[in-house]
Amino acid sequence: VNVRPYEHGDLEGVFALHVAEGWPSFPSDPVRAHRILTNPGVTSFVAVDDGRVVGFTYMLSDGEIQAFLANIVVAADARKQGVGRQLIAAALRKAGGERIDLLSSADEFYAHLPHHRWAGFRIYPPFTP
Ligand SMILES: CC(C)(COP(=O)(O)OP(=O)(O)OC[C@H]1O[C@@H](n2cnc3c(N)ncnc32)[C@H](O)[C@@H]1OP(=O)(O)O)[C@@H](O)C(=O)NCCC(=O)NCCS
Repeated sequence: VNVRPYEHGDLEGVFALHVAEGWPSFPSDPVRAHRILTNPGVTSFVAVDDGRVVGFTYMLSDGEIQAFLANIVVAADARKQGVGRQLIAAALRKAGGERIDLLSSADEFYAHLPHHRWAGFRIYPPFTP
């Protein structure tokens, strides 16, 4: 599996992963999806196996300390082989950051806001691929 930065030609493969999960936002507007994945501060990576996109992630980062994992997906038949881990490690290396938050661990703060309580995760490197 080759883990590398996202390119425009990967878009259909990324959509296929999203469709398989029942996620409509990206496939419903390809021009917007490509814009999202290439906007400033956004780091997008794919995992490619024999020409097929089998994994995808994108991350938002300040470039130095704080990164946020926006989305990760690995094809069902490619899971539990370390692809997800490699995607996160590669994206953080490129984006820069000392940690990644997935949603938020500040659940007490969010509990005071008028919406749902979310569990959060904080992920620290280094990662072993
Ligand atoms: C979550 C997901 C991206 C993980 O990808 P993956 O390539 O299977 O992950 P990895 O193989 O790198 O696994 C990393 C570690 O997590 C563990 N793991 C992976 N999937 C797991 C699961 N469903 N339950 C428990 N542990 C799991 C692996 O065993 C591995 O641990 P280890 O290194 O100690 O063995 C993948 O399961 C997926 O695409 N799920 C559907 C989409 C989704 O839920 N995305 C996240 C929300 S946006």
